Order: sequence, then structure tokens, then C-alpha cells
Amino acid sequence: MEKVRRISFRARATLKLSKPLEEEKRNELSNWIKLRAGELLSKGTRIKEEAAKVENFEVFDNKIILEISSGRSVRPHDALARLRKAIGEELGKKLGVGVREIQIEDYEIIFEGSNFRKINLPFTKEITSNENEVRVKLNLTEKEIYSQVPDRIVKLFLEKQQEVPTGKEIHEVRWSSQQKPHKYNVDPSLELVKRGWVKRFDQGIWYYMPPFAALMRTMEKIIVEEIAVPNGFVEAYFPKLITLEVMRKKGQLYGIPNEMFYVCEPISRDASYFEDYMDKVKVTNETLPTELLGKLKPPTYALPYAQCEPFYEIFSGEIVDVDQGPIKLFDRSGFSFRYESGGLTGLERLNAFNRIEITYLGTPEQVVEIRDKLVDSYQRVLDKTLDLEVRTVEVTPVWMAHAGVTSDVQRSVPATLDFEVYLPYRGERETSEWLEVGNASVHFDKYMQWYNVKEKKEREVWTGCSGNGLERWVVSLLANHGFNPEDWPKEFRKYLEKLPENIKLVTWP
Ligand code: SER
Ligand code: ZN
Repeated sequence: MEKVRRISFRARATLKLSKPLEEEKRNELSNWIKLRAGELLSKGTRIKEEAAKVENFEVFDNKIILEISSGRSVRPHDALARLRKAIGEELGKKLGVGVREIQIEDYEIIFEGSNFRKINLPFTKEITSNENEVRVKLNLTEKEIYSQVPDRIVKLFLEKQQEVPTGKEIHEVRWSSQQKPHKYNVDPSLELVKRGWVKRFDQGIWYYMPPFAALMRTMEKIIVEEIAVPNGFVEAYFPKLITLEVMRKKGQLYGIPNEMFYVCEPISRDASYFEDYMDKVKVTNETLPTELLGKLKPPTYALPYAQCEPFYEIFSGEIVDVDQGPIKLFDRSGFSFRYESGGLTGLERLNAFNRIEITYLGTPEQVVEIRDKLVDSYQRVLDKTLDLEVRTVEVTPVWMAHAGVTSDVQRSVPATLDFEVYLPYRGERETSEWLEVGNASVHFDKYMQWYNVKEKKEREVWTGCSGNGLERWVVSLLANHGFNPEDWPKEFRKYLEKLPENIKLVTWP
């Protein structure tokens, strides 16, 4: 339902002049504004009512005070910037002055419409409303004028008026393997702990002891050899300390800042700076986080969350050439991190987990074809090599949720497909929750825009990515086939015949 009928702006601002003006020149400046402002502030506007207008103004010896109103076309912040520039260019020489500074006294955005939700907005002095409108009064300096903050506030206001998606409201099964008989019905996480194949390190963080490590490496080998390489992907190492700027470009700083881990650098590399802290640790054995905090910078990095964040950055500010064919890379160089909420017990939900992140860039046709072939490969491996009961599901695009995008992109093809495995210990296949073990996405041209990537001839370029949780693949195998290697599917055993011995302690496992 469309709630907004019209958006308009009103502002009161002062243009401070670089030098005082005598009366004659003040009159000249007044006349110039009367004659020029109308044309200047409606330039490029098709609908006249949407353009900016100088409602009132007064020229003093060292400043001009203006009241500007507008619709959505040339907004007051644009109008002020245009006026400043034109005064400099057209009158600067003649009057011997320019505009030194723009000072905003009032800046109001008026949203006409009904049924608005109550929301919070940044840079806001006051929000008032009645049945017909909401008025947002902003607190702005020249910096926000030039960085177009008011436009982003409008966008944010409109976004926040929409229903917040719950994450997975689309869930449509697109393909299913055959139903398979189930030999095993135990929660593998409990059994893994009991056998000592894994050992808890901290909340959602585990040691993978030799038998489990061998299973993880086997899954990795299967994904690389049966999915990534046959589809033409080549290995690369992606950075694992991700600058906040790259997180911002991917949208994660406004999409999921509450789900990432952050990394702080010490303020100094000089050990003497830490002497008092080191001494305290020695004499108290405490870790003293508050003492330490003063010696750390605010976070400069976050840990990889989607793992593909740095992929798009390769192309940022660069020019790609789709005539060279699509770009296909995969990264298996380490953990991904998600700040999950408390009480994590099993290995299906983790703060630190492993995945092979598969990333691609090309023309829309190429990206769609690459994704479709990946989907075929995933389905075959999960169904045949691992002999699991599996289905492919179209879901709400996960990458959009990560970027806090609430209004959907126009979808010509499914944006995200998930692969879900049935876990017998969770109950009936019809009613229980299946485990998502991977996904394959098309991002359309979104990241090309957000990361500012150009194409040689301005042809359309799309990206996509596909990830998988290796721990979940192991859990899926064990939950369906049990812990005895002899019961594992033949195709899987080709990769791993025997498990290595585990270490044994008096008290563990
Ligand atoms: N990067 C995608 C995700 O975070 C695929 O792994 O889900
Ligand atoms: Zn990704």
C-alpha cells in the first residue's frame, strides 16, 4: 500500500560571504538572485512544481539569508550548492566576493500521506506528525549538504516505512531428490562430542580432532573436485580481515552490524605503551578488558561474514571487459564468522565455520548459466555422492537481507536457491526443519553499483556467489549414514576409506 502522496522540502540557510559588500553591490547581488535563481534552480527539472524556489531572501553586507522550498527534483541542499557555485562563477569577479560557507538554520522534509509508522532517523532535531503528514526537521552542516544526506534520509524514511522482511518469507521447493530409507536417527553433535571427534573451545567454536578433520577435508575435496573445478572455477585466497569500508560497500554495516565480529588494532606497536597492562596481568592473572580497551583503536576490520565481501572489491574502481569471458574464483582459505546468539550446542550453528565460497562475475546470461550449472552440481553431489535426501528451495535472497535491502529487486531469475538436507533425528520429513547446507545466488547488478565497477563498453555486468557450510555437510552425512565408515556411501568412501586415530587422554573424551 502506498502511503506517501508527496515529499517536499523547506529550508532556511545563510550563505556567508567572503567579504562585506557595500550597498550598490548588495543591490546588484539582489537583482542577480531575482533574475537568475528561477532558471538556475529549475534546470534539468521536467515537472516545474518539483523544482526548488527561492521563497524569500535578504542580502546583508556579509551574508545572504534565503528561504527555499522544493519538491523532489532540485532539493534545497542542491539549490544552495548551485547558488554558491553560480555566485562565484558569474559574480565573483565583478563583486569581488564569493560564498565562504553555507550555514543551515532549518531544514525540513515534509512527507504527505497517511498511516506512517513512528521511526527514528539520524541528523534529526525533531519529528512531528498529524493525520496528513510527517515533518522531519534536520540538523545539518555544510558537510551533509554536499554529501547528499537529506536524500539518503528520504530513502531511509521510505525504507523504514515498509514492513521489515522476516528473512525467509519466500520458501518454494524447486527440486527434490527421491525419498530414501533412513538407517540412523541420532543427533550427530551429541555423538561427536561423546566420541571426542570434536572438543568445545568456546561458544560456537570447536576443535576438530583428527577423525572430524578428515571428514571436513573430504567434504572440501568433494566440493572442489566435483563442483568448483568442473565448473571452471580457479582457487584464490580472499583476505580474512575485512576493512569496514568494504563491509559498508557490501551493505553489511547497515544490514547486519549486530551479527559480525569486529577486530581492533592496538593504538601503538610500542610494548612500553602496554607496560602497565602487562604488569597488571602478571600480578592479578586477570585479563582486564577495561584496562586494555584504552589501548585499542576502535575496530578497523570485521571478520569475514559472507566470505565473498573482498571478491567484489577486486573490481572496485576498475574496468572489466566481458569479452574476456566470465571471472570464476573460489576461496577455501579459512573460517567465516557470525555472531550467533547464546546457547549454541551443536555443530549446525557456529560462531566460526568453514566454507568454500564460490564467486562469479560476467554478463547476465553467463551469470545465470554459471549458477544453474552450479545448482546441478550441488544437487548431484548431495544426492548421489553423499546419498542424502535433499531439496532445492527458492528463498528470500540472503545477500539482500545482509545488506538490509527491504524493497526487492526486480527478479527475472531466482535470486537465491538453498540446498536443504533432511535430518531424520529432527522428526518427520514433512514437518521438521531441514538443514541448509549451501546456496547459490545471483546478485543482478547490485554489487556492480555498490562497489562502483565499470564495464569497458558499459554493458550490463552481474555477479553471483555460492557458499556451503562444511561442518553442516559432515553433520548431514553422519545424521543420515551414522558413524561407521562401512555404512557410508560408496562414492564418498572413494575419497576417505579409513579415519585417522584420535588422541586419547585419561580424562577425555
Ligand atoms: N556469501 C553467501 C552467504 O553469505 C554465500 O556463501 O550466504
Ligand atoms: Zn557470497
